[in-house]
Amino acid sequence: MTYQSLRPVPLSVLADQWGAPEAHFWLRGIAPERPVAFDEQAGLWNVYGYPEAVEVFSDPAAYTSDTVPYIAPDAPEYEKSGLLTQMDPPAHRQLRQLAGRAFTPRLVAGLAPRICALTHELLDQADGRGTLELVDDLAHPLPVTVIAELLGVPASDRPLFRQWSEEIFPREKVTARGGSAGTADGDGGSGGASGTDGGGDEIAAAFDLVRRMNEYFAVHADDRRRQPREDLLTRLVQAEVDGERLSEAALGNFAQLLLVAGHITTTMLLGNTVLCLDAHPERRAELRRDPAALPAVIEESLRLLTPFEVFYRATTRDVELGGQRVPAGQVLALWTGAANRDERVFAGPHDFVPGRDPNPHIAFGRGIHFCLGAPLARLEGRIALGILLERHPELRTDPDNPPVLMANPELTGPRTLPLLTAGR
Ligand code: HEM
Repeated sequence: MTYQSLRPVPLSVLADQWGAPEAHFWLRGIAPERPVAFDEQAGLWNVYGYPEAVEVFSDPAAYTSDTVPYIAPDAPEYEKSGLLTQMDPPAHRQLRQLAGRAFTPRLVAGLAPRICALTHELLDQADGRGTLELVDDLAHPLPVTVIAELLGVPASDRPLFRQWSEEIFPREKVTARGGSAGTADGDGGSGGASGTDGGGDEIAAAFDLVRRMNEYFAVHADDRRRQPREDLLTRLVQAEVDGERLSEAALGNFAQLLLVAGHITTTMLLGNTVLCLDAHPERRAELRRDPAALPAVIEESLRLLTPFEVFYRATTRDVELGGQRVPAGQVLALWTGAANRDERVFAGPHDFVPGRDPNPHIAFGRGIHFCLGAPLARLEGRIALGILLERHPELRTDPDNPPVLMANPELTGPRTLPLLTAGR
C-alpha cells in the first residue's frame, strides 16, 4: 500500500487497518441497534446513545459512581477516600471543591511556557532522524512530565509511571464488549473495576498496584510535610476539608488519580488528532492556512476518536433508560465514544468536521464528575500540536510502518504512531 492510496480512506475503514478492538463497532462507522442494551455475557447494560449517557452522567442519585460493590462484591475492603471518580455527593462535592482550589485555571494557564519548552526539547531530541514515533517521542513524555512536575514528583520516575499505566490499562487486553477489567482507580473515568466478571487475580493485582502507588506518594507527602514546596502535593498536604486535613490514604488515592488521569488520555488525544489530520489532508491544509482553527480540530478529534471510551455507573433504584427498564443494583457501561457518534445529535457522525457547531461531545464526561483536567488537556493539545505541525509541515504516517491502536477496549488511541517528517 502506498501513502497515496491511504489518503482518501475514511477513518472508519482505517480503524480496521489499525487494528481497532472488535468492541468498538462505532469506529467502523456502525450505529448501535439500540441506545441501551443488556449484555448477557458481561452481565451489564451497555449505554451507547448520547441522550441516555448524558441522562446517566447527570443523575448521580439514581446512578452511583461507587461501582466496585456492584462489580466486585467480594473485593477486599479498601480505602475509598480520595478516589474522586468513585465518589457520590456530598463527599464528592467536598473533595472536588478542594481539588478545584488546588488546581486553578491560573495554575493551568501558568504552565503554558513550560509545555512549550518541553515540546521543543522533546522534538529537538528526535531532530534529524526524518522520523518520529509520536507516542514515545512526544505524546507520552510530554503530559507525564507536565503532571509529574505539577504534582512535584520526579519526572525521572517516568518509566515507573508508564509501568503503572500499563498495569492499569494493559496494551493487549481484549475482553468481551463491556466486560473489560480495570482497577480500583483508573483514569478520571469509571474509577472503578470494570466489567462484572473481574477475576480474583485481576482484583488482587489492582489492589496491589494501588498499594504500591500509595506507598510512593506517602514518601513524597511526608517530605512535603517537613519541607513544603511550590507544588500540588504540598497544596494537597496542607488542604483541609471541613477543617480536616486529607488522610494519607486519601492523598495517595487522589495523587495517583491525577497522575494516571493526567497523562494517558492526553497521550491518546495528541496521537488521535495527528491521525485525524493525516487521514484528512484537506483539513490539514485548512489548518495550515488558519492555525487558529486548532482548538476546533482538537474538539472534533475528541468527539470522533474519544480517548477514554467507557465509564461505569450502577443503578441505585429501578430506572427507565432509553426505553428499557433497568432494575436497581445493575451496572451500566457508558460508551462515550459511541455516544459521541449518535446521529440523533451529530449530523454525519462518522465524518471529521472541525468547527461543527455545536459540538457538545462528552469526551470529558458531563455533570459533577466533568473532567477536572480538561483545561490542562486542551492546553497541552493546543501547544504541542501547534508546535509539532509548525515544525513538521510534511508530517505524515508511514505506509510501510502503519500506526497500531491500543487493543484495550477501554481506550482509543495509538499504541505506536510512526511518522515521516521529511518532505516526499
Ligand atoms: C474525570 C476524560 C485529561 C483528571 C474525567 C471524566 C472523563 C475524563 C470522561 C469523567 C469521569 C466520570 O464521569 O466518571 C479525560 C480525557 C482527557 C482527560 C478525554 C484528555 C484528553 C485529564 C487530565 C487530568 C484529568 C490532564 C489531570 C491533570 C481527571 C480527574 C477526574 C477526571 C481528577 C475526576 C473528576 C471527578 O470525579 O469529579 N476525565 N480526562 N483528566 N479527569 Fe479527565
